Amino acid sequence: MEEIFNALIDSFIADKVGITQNFISAQLSLQLKQNLADCYSQNRFKQAGTGNGTDALHDSKVRGDMIYWLDRRHNNKHENAFFDLMDGFVLYLNNTCYTSITGYEFHYTLYPKGSFYKKHLDQFKNNDSRKYSMIIYLNTGWLQADGGELCIHHKDGPQNISPEDGKSVFFKSGELVHEVLCTNKPRMSITGWLKVD
Ligand code: OGA
Ligand code: MN
Repeated sequence: MEEIFNALIDSFIADKVGITQNFISAQLSLQLKQNLADCYSQNRFKQAGTGNGTDALHDSKVRGDMIYWLDRRHNNKHENAFFDLMDGFVLYLNNTCYTSITGYEFHYTLYPKGSFYKKHLDQFKNNDSRKYSMIIYLNTGWLQADGGELCIHHKDGPQNISPEDGKSVFFKSGELVHEVLCTNKPRMSITGWLKVD
C-alpha cells in the first residue's frame, strides 16, 4: 500500500491537487459502485445541503447532488474494505507527513443528469475541522462530452479534472475554491474529508 499512498501524496505535494488512478483497486471500485447503485435504488440517498447544523440549506441552484453517508455500522464488506484502506492511509499520512488527522467522514455521491455544485470551499464557516478533501470517482467510460468535471480554481487559472473511474483526487479543504460543472450523465463518486477534531 505504501507505494499507492506515496503516489497520491507526491502528486499532492507537487501540484496542490494529488491525482492518481490506482488508489483503490478496479475490483473495489466496481464493488463500491454496485453498492452505491443498490443504496440509491433503496431510496437511501438524500438531497445534499450546504452549511451545517441549523445553517444547513438545500438549494439545487447551488448543488444538486444526492448523498448517502458510509458507515462501518452498515456492516457492508465493501464499505468496510474502503474504511480499512482509509485507516491505512490516515496512519501513513500521520506517520510521514505529521498531519495529526483524528478522523474522517465519507459519503457516496450521485449527481443526476443536469446537476452541478457551484464554487465553494470544503470548510464550514463555523468549523474548520475538515483539513483534506478526497474524492474517488466511480464512472466507467466517462467521455469529455459527459461534462461533470471537477474544476479547481487556482490563482493562475482553472484546472479541470474529469470524473473517470478509479481516479482519486486529494487536496486541502480550506484553500482551494472548486466547483463541479454541469454533468450530462449521472455522475458517481465517494467524497470525504480527513479531519482534525
Ligand atoms: C464536494 C465536491 C467534487 C467532485 O462534494 O464538496 O466538491 O468532483 N465534490 O465531486
Ligand atoms: Mn467540495
